[in-house]
Amino acid sequence: MNRILVTGGAGFIGSNFIIYMLKKYNDIFIVNLDAITYSGNLKNLKSVENDERYVFVKGDIRDKELINNLFKQYDFNQVVNFAAESHVDRSITGPDIFVETNILGTSTLLNCAKEAWEKEDDSWPENVRFLQVSTDEVYGSLGPDGFFTEDTPLDPHSPYSASKTGADLLVKAYFDTYKMPINITRCSNNYGPYQFPEKLIPLVINNCLNHRDLPIYGDGLQVRDWLYVDDHCKAIDMILMSAKVGETYNIGGHNERTNLQIVNTIIDYIQKNEDETVGSHLIKHVEDRKGHDRRYGIDPTKIKDDLGWYPETSFEEGIIKTIRWYLDNKEWMEDIVSGDYVKYYEEQYKGR
Ligand code: NAD
Ligand code: TYD
Repeated sequence: MNRILVTGGAGFIGSNFIIYMLKKYNDIFIVNLDAITYSGNLKNLKSVENDERYVFVKGDIRDKELINNLFKQYDFNQVVNFAAESHVDRSITGPDIFVETNILGTSTLLNCAKEAWEKEDDSWPENVRFLQVSTDEVYGSLGPDGFFTEDTPLDPHSPYSASKTGADLLVKAYFDTYKMPINITRCSNNYGPYQFPEKLIPLVINNCLNHRDLPIYGDGLQVRDWLYVDDHCKAIDMILMSAKVGETYNIGGHNERTNLQIVNTIIDYIQKNEDETVGSHLIKHVEDRKGHDRRYGIDPTKIKDDLGWYPETSFEEGIIKTIRWYLDNKEWMEDIVSGDYVKYYEEQYKGR
């Protein structure tokens, strides 16, 4: 039976991953270690909170003593590290916590896993694995042509992506130096249920429902390669269970859209199905993000060839499923936006 330490499991992708894994495998045990920062939300995990195969522990990935004790108590054979500061805009206004969580936190986790797993003769048990969840943003920005492959040079531009790159390099170093069984995944922009409404898609849905301006940074022609969150979870599962150790995989599905296309798709759906007063008059071009990456696009050939992974959800299907989820779960959003989020949101767009 796999005993998995999932970090950051109360966030957007981590909570979807825990739900996905508990549904797919009977014989599994998951401990979710999450500090519940502003983006962690235990309501995401309501459907599994009483499941005997699942335990939540509130704690920080920088807390060595806690993590060592968890390894002793639960004897994990796999670690999936989602825990991170994840928002580019926040990294521009406050980079320090990104270094602390994303780099120092990953370093602490690596050391604890090494201490628990490495044998006296420096070899490693057959069944252990450390999976680092990273991002395509470590590659920087593309021009109009070409795609990121796993061999694209690392060229991060924001404090967020620089901190993720630092973490990736540490994880790789533990493979190169100690032969620690690791994998690194680099995924494009995810969308789906439970995403914190500071990110483009849930932010735009929420603002439409409240007739607020829809802030478009700069000309809105920046391109992102969108992946439905369950397809990301499927890829992580496949890598964790059967990839060759030491390998890095890009995860994306050739679903490139400009930000304006995304915003207009959301407006159209809400106008037709929920509120006819919503329209493109809500779009407001605001000052561009500093150092804004122009285009991300993933070449997923390696994961397709090695593991047979492909994205099952088309963008057309996934975006409707996603918008519907937020419309059908308004209390989830209301709960978040009634708290600290409002203060953050106002500060973020003050003067823009
Ligand atoms: P998120 O912000 O929704 O969730 C992050 C979670 O980590 C939260 O639950 C938070 O409480 C927790 N956390 C933060 N600091 C912690 C700490 N010190 N100790 C323990 N827990 C802590 O982020 P997300 O969108 O779910 O992203 C998850 C991972 O996937 C991140 O590593 C991110 O870099 C990566 N990623 C995200 C995307 C995307 O589109 N969202 C794309 C590619 C990669
Ligand atoms: P975001 O969801 O923050 O993800 P990332 O920066 O990791 O790609 O942003 C997606 C794109 O949308 C990015 O080009 C920035 C842009 N954007 C806006 O134009 N307005 C907004 O209010 C937000 C949050 C993002």
